[in-house]
Amino acid sequence: MDLTECILTRSSKRDFKNIPVPEDLIKKLIEISSHAPSWANSQPWKVAVSSGKTSEFIKEKIYKMAMEGGQGNPDFQFPEFWPEEQSKNIAETGRSRYEILGIPRDDAEKRKDISLNNYLFFGSQTAIFIYMNEKLGLWSAFDCGMFVQNILLTAHDMGLGACPQAYLVRYPDILREAFNLGSAQKFILGISIGYYKKESPINNIKTERMQLNDILKYYI
Ligand SMILES: Cc1cc2nc3c(=O)[nH]c(=O)nc-3n(C[C@H](O)[C@H](O)[C@H](O)COP(=O)(O)O)c2cc1C
Repeated sequence: MDLTECILTRSSKRDFKNIPVPEDLIKKLIEISSHAPSWANSQPWKVAVSSGKTSEFIKEKIYKMAMEGGQGNPDFQFPEFWPEEQSKNIAETGRSRYEILGIPRDDAEKRKDISLNNYLFFGSQTAIFIYMNEKLGLWSAFDCGMFVQNILLTAHDMGLGACPQAYLVRYPDILREAFNLGSAQKFILGISIGYYKKESPINNIKTERMQLNDILKYYI
């Protein structure tokens, strides 16, 4: 796929078939994605891929925690405040998503179901977790972001769907237990990945972007 087409047609997928992604394909995806740039080529990212029984273990535990309303203890604190401009973008994205899905504002139960689906990898059997050493800082998290974007674009190019999810790292102690990692390893993001249901309305949402004029000023 042409790069511009790949960037413009990628979107987050949130309804997967219950089929695992073959290990060989995930390895190829991560190898390609690891060609991302990073500060002095430091390559701070580490990847734990969950499939089979490991996915069952994680899903069961994090879903239960979320059902009980646990806010968790993410290694990187979730934002508690957004400036007005970002707050507007977030509200507009949420509003249009629920409108497309035909879910009224006051249907708290349906909205909760969609939210809880995060913790079930949106139906996929496979998820990719990105973590890094606690001694690394903001710049390394930035590098991991570029690595993640490579994963999302390469997955799309391979015909796979993916959804980057902060929610998947809300309960990092469970992840450390599942992957047998020490407390020095900090989870940045989870990505549900798999074969997505092409006709599912939630997989056909194209989110809006701000006008170029609102993000770019050109100085000569
Ligand atoms: C750091 C990060 C965290 C995200 N966390 C979640 C999440 O927990 N659950 C979810 O459904 N989507 C999550 N998303 C996906 C965004 O909602 C999505 O990228 C955004 O609405 C733009 O839509 P698009 O990816 O389809 O272009 C996250 C995206 C990023 C980059």
